[in-house]
Amino acid sequence: MATSVSDQDGDGSRQPVHVPVLLAETLLVLDLGPGLVVVDGTVGAGGHARAIARALGPTGHVIGLDRDSEILDCARAAFVTTEKDAHEQPRVSLFHLASSQMKDALVDVGCSACDRVLLDLGVSSLQLDKAERGFSFMVDGPLDMRMDATAQPTAAEWLRRVDEIELARVLFTYGDERYSRRIARAIIETRRQSPLQTTRQLAQLIVRALPMSARHGHIHPATRSFQAIRMAVNGEVAELQSALAAALACLKPGGRLAVISFHSGEDRIVKHFLREHCAVLTKKPIEATPLEVDRNPRSRSARLRCGIAREVAA
Ligand SMILES: C[S@@+](CC[C@H](N)C(=O)[O-])C[C@H]1O[C@@H](n2cnc3c(N)ncnc32)[C@H](O)[C@@H]1O
Repeated sequence: MATSVSDQDGDGSRQPVHVPVLLAETLLVLDLGPGLVVVDGTVGAGGHARAIARALGPTGHVIGLDRDSEILDCARAAFVTTEKDAHEQPRVSLFHLASSQMKDALVDVGCSACDRVLLDLGVSSLQLDKAERGFSFMVDGPLDMRMDATAQPTAAEWLRRVDEIELARVLFTYGDERYSRRIARAIIETRRQSPLQTTRQLAQLIVRALPMSARHGHIHPATRSFQAIRMAVNGEVAELQSALAAALACLKPGGRLAVISFHSGEDRIVKHFLREHCAVLTKKPIEATPLEVDRNPRSRSARLRCGIAREVAA
């Protein structure tokens, strides 16, 4: 995926940025107002969080969490305020924590509960674009893919240990990859000779494992497998389930939970969770308009759902 470059701040600088998806729609369903305490459980570079902050005013509080300590530096930079506008800004607290640990963050800042929670799942364009993070088949780098560089395993380690059946299951379940078994077999056969080390090696191997007819589509043929391996390496599905439970435990009754997902399996988990525990505000998921997809292709698969908390998890 190409780095998005924009002059968001209108100051003439053209920095690589992560363009927040479904921004207006997210602000609308969150129904923000002055003085609210909002947890952004996947704060990334702070795109959504900055817009949220503007709606809260000086009595509000934005609590941002991310598993990636490097990207938190971008969030910190996004929240630097001048002395002139400091008195108009809400309090901002940023934590290197998984979203499932939002309770710890709330305790740390002396809050017993929050009014809103946002989860914008997946990876940021800033992570994808950095070759050394190993998320992308578009640039060559080490097979890493960890959101949290202090966690284990890397994608290379995971691919060294996983058995063929589990690998095929991951590729099929998290990547919707119809050639999951062929790709899994090719990976296992290749690693018998030497371990996979780089994103280019893996991407080329995946392409070679596919039948000729499947090598040319509208997306790169390694897209689905890379997504699946990333989700397994970071335990993203289990983490989502824990984060949803944590959000429910942290929200005040009447508080709102909004989730943006990019994967059909994750969207299904969110849909069922909201149905069970919340008053659902989005009967159907909100999707990006053709104009947004045109401007930001990453929004193509985004699905936004939101609910109002009505009970506290046991
Ligand atoms: C799609 S980006 C969020 C972008 C952000 N909304 C913005 O507008 O800049 C997802 C971010 O969530 C982080 N992330 C993903 N899963 C997480 C989790 N379970 N806990 C904390 N952070 C997570 C990733 O490291 C990444 O920075």
